[in-house]
Amino acid sequence: MTRRVAVLGASGLVGQRLQQRLVHHPEFELAAVVGSPRTAGKPVNDLPWGLEGSAPEVDLPPVLDASDPSLGHHLRSLGVSWAFSALPSAVAMGLEPALVEAGLNVCSNASAHRRRQGVPLVVGDLNPEHLTLHASGPLHACATNCTLIPLLFPYVALADRFGPLDVTAQSEQARSGAGYALLRRQVPLTEAIPGEAEKTVAELGWITGDLRGASVLPSKPAVRLQCRRVDAEEGHMIDATFRFETEINIDEVREALTSFTSRPEAQGCPSAPSRPLMVVDGPVRRMDHVWANGDAFDVPSDPAMSLRSGMAVVVGDLRQTGPRTVHLRALSHNTVRGAAGGVTLLAEVALRR
Ligand SMILES: NC(=O)c1ccc[n+]([C@@H]2O[C@H](COP(=O)([O-])OP(=O)(O)OC[C@H]3O[C@@H](n4cnc5c(N)ncnc54)[C@H](OP(=O)(O)O)[C@@H]3O)[C@@H](O)[C@H]2O)c1
Repeated sequence: MTRRVAVLGASGLVGQRLQQRLVHHPEFELAAVVGSPRTAGKPVNDLPWGLEGSAPEVDLPPVLDASDPSLGHHLRSLGVSWAFSALPSAVAMGLEPALVEAGLNVCSNASAHRRRQGVPLVVGDLNPEHLTLHASGPLHACATNCTLIPLLFPYVALADRFGPLDVTAQSEQARSGAGYALLRRQVPLTEAIPGEAEKTVAELGWITGDLRGASVLPSKPAVRLQCRRVDAEEGHMIDATFRFETEINIDEVREALTSFTSRPEAQGCPSAPSRPLMVVDGPVRRMDHVWANGDAFDVPSDPAMSLRSGMAVVVGDLRQTGPRTVHLRALSHNTVRGAAGGVTLLAEVALRR
């Protein structure tokens, strides 16, 4: 049985990635698209398509209006039971709880409800147990900030194996991380992103935090992070130095990264890569590695047909820099693993619970 889904975000970058991933999804069926007053009422197939490949051919009602007070009931009348949100945070703040109230399960890429007790912040293949924070009724859960993903996977793989870590890192974030408007601005950018580092480290603390009954007790990661935008289209990179409590050997570090596996609940999910981390010899490059799928570095001709493409984090430039320190660079597809693919995987894991 497939679940009927509404995508909240019509002509936006993450909204379109979600539409792309849902057209052939085996467990979810794209049933409605919800947009701003700018797109509401328009045929979905008439909206300009901004992603690689052609727009999915869909037979849907015209774009529904996000400001319609009876939106939730309207969606329910269409048989929609899930909503995947790619709304601006200010809009998600009110609309997501209203849809939950109307009986829909809401999984969100927006930041509005992240780090709120009772709304699990979940990376489907890392901390699915946090879904237990949601006791009953429709689910409201959030995926993380896209910047966190390339830091998070090496961090968890190495902390699981070697214990507490101290990290100094700098992000190099693609223009698409700020939506279509910045993606289309063809100007060289190397600029700091205010507030991004604090938000990212706080989310790391929540993902790696302990469950205490119905709450998360966030951890306090020893991570110093600086975030900046660079002139690349897709892919967020982290340049990081990890310091361990005891002396380590680079081969052990490499082995810990390559042998890291998804949590069992995510295995077999359509969007879960066979391995969440891949390690390359030498440098990691956006153009070669951003579509990593856990087995290979493909460049899918149609991402709608390959839900695992872009879902693995790639580590390269791995080298020992001291008896207790290693340097690495890690890359993640920000609009796939860091947004639409991540939230779909979260929903796939939730379905299995
Ligand atoms: N880009 C990334 O890598 C990334 C990663 C993780 C999370 N996110 C989050 O995902 C969300 C969408 O980001 P994006 O990159 O897709 O931005 P975007 O390309 O600028 O798209 C913005 C979206 O917001 C919708 N919107 C704007 N005003 C609205 C309103 N008043 N009511 C309803 N919808 C409204 C637009 O709908 P219409 O098309 O109908 O105008 C559009 O779909 C943001 O919360 C962002 O923080 C983005």
